[in-house]
Amino acid sequence: MTAAFTPHAILVTGGAGFIGSNFINHFMGANPGCRVVNLDLLTYAGNLENLTGVESRPDYRFVRGDICDAPLVASLLTEERIEAVLHFAAESHVDRSITGPEIFVRTNVLGTQVLLEESRRHWQANKSADFRFLQVSTDEVYGSLGATGFFTEETPLAPNSPYSASKAGADLLVRAYHETYGMPTLNTRCSNNYGPYHFPEKLIPLMITNIINQKPLPVYGDGLNVRDWLHVKDHSRAIETVLKKGRGGSIYNVGGNNEWKNIDIVNLVCDLLDGRLGRQPGANRQLIAFVKDRPGHDKRYAIDAARIKRELGWEPGYTFEQGIAETIDWYLHNQEWVAKVTSGAYRDYYEKQYGR
Ligand code: NAD
Ligand code: TYD
Repeated sequence: MTAAFTPHAILVTGGAGFIGSNFINHFMGANPGCRVVNLDLLTYAGNLENLTGVESRPDYRFVRGDICDAPLVASLLTEERIEAVLHFAAESHVDRSITGPEIFVRTNVLGTQVLLEESRRHWQANKSADFRFLQVSTDEVYGSLGATGFFTEETPLAPNSPYSASKAGADLLVRAYHETYGMPTLNTRCSNNYGPYHFPEKLIPLMITNIINQKPLPVYGDGLNVRDWLHVKDHSRAIETVLKKGRGGSIYNVGGNNEWKNIDIVNLVCDLLDGRLGRQPGANRQLIAFVKDRPGHDKRYAIDAARIKRELGWEPGYTFEQGIAETIDWYLHNQEWVAKVTSGAYRDYYEKQYGR
């Protein structure tokens, strides 16, 4: 077994988003000697209030900027002596990709290529130092499953939405940089995440928020589509594990072995919130509204995460019962965060904190 990779400085892209901010909060707690530079454009999905626990630490730096800005990326890599790039930044919502795919190609494909190219130059100029490029991707690149079976790392790519197609394009560029230049790349593909700081446009936080506000709960189609849910803190540990112990050029699936039909999740969240909100049993289920299906709606995702367990020893720690209860309680206790995100008021935070 080779020694674990322990970088002194990492560049995290998209660190103000849902998973990126959970990752930074986790990583900086567990790795106090490592400098973390967070490059994020602060699109609608980026929220610096997710990072108040680390923002004043001297080993943390936030830079508002675009991953497509090659000179900016190059200067950060050099001036911060970056030893690993952890690439979370993306346009991440399938429904938005259906109504406006262009930005998905720009950010997810072009942005990844810019990061790869600047990382290649930086790595080749500092060949004596260890370096990793870790691409955070999704199981959606594999397309859709029928009633049985699981996605393995060998499952052919067959993306169905503009979002998943743009992520698959980025993953193939990552592969190409390993095959062509021998760059030490890593590629994780995980299932649907849930947990704190999740933007309330995605299924679980949208349902929690709408239930609290007694608004309709839109369930697409028949509600029988299946997703495999992973707690974001388990995902953060998986990324840290792959960064430190992963084999260059490898892909690792990350999943919670936790399949749910959408309607079952919605019913569960309704029932858990009945008690917490002091409503009659069954009251929240009355809010469910079946609506027109999403075009090209993938039927089922399910991850085989045997490789990361076997090779790197990672496995999820959360049970879904614990994770969903904690998540619901987090939203109940963080109504101010939800209100700011829903109203758009969170966007003032950058100006207040950074004065620009
Ligand atoms: P998110 O939408 O919550 O956050 C994305 C972040 O990227 C935001 O902070 C945004 O400001 C930033 N960003 C967008 N465009 C940028 C640009 N051009 N330059 C710099 N920053 C930019 O996304 P998320 O849910 O945290 O997902 C993070 C990564 O994980 C993505 O790559 C996504 O594809 C992948 N992923 C997410 C899930 C999930 O369930 N959320 C599942 C599998 C994989
Ligand atoms: P989502 O959270 O958008 O993640 P993804 O599309 O990347 O899996 O959606 C999760 C599942 O929930 C998906 O099958 C679509 C469905 N869904 C609804 O039924 N209603 C909603 O309002 C949303 C946002 C999603």
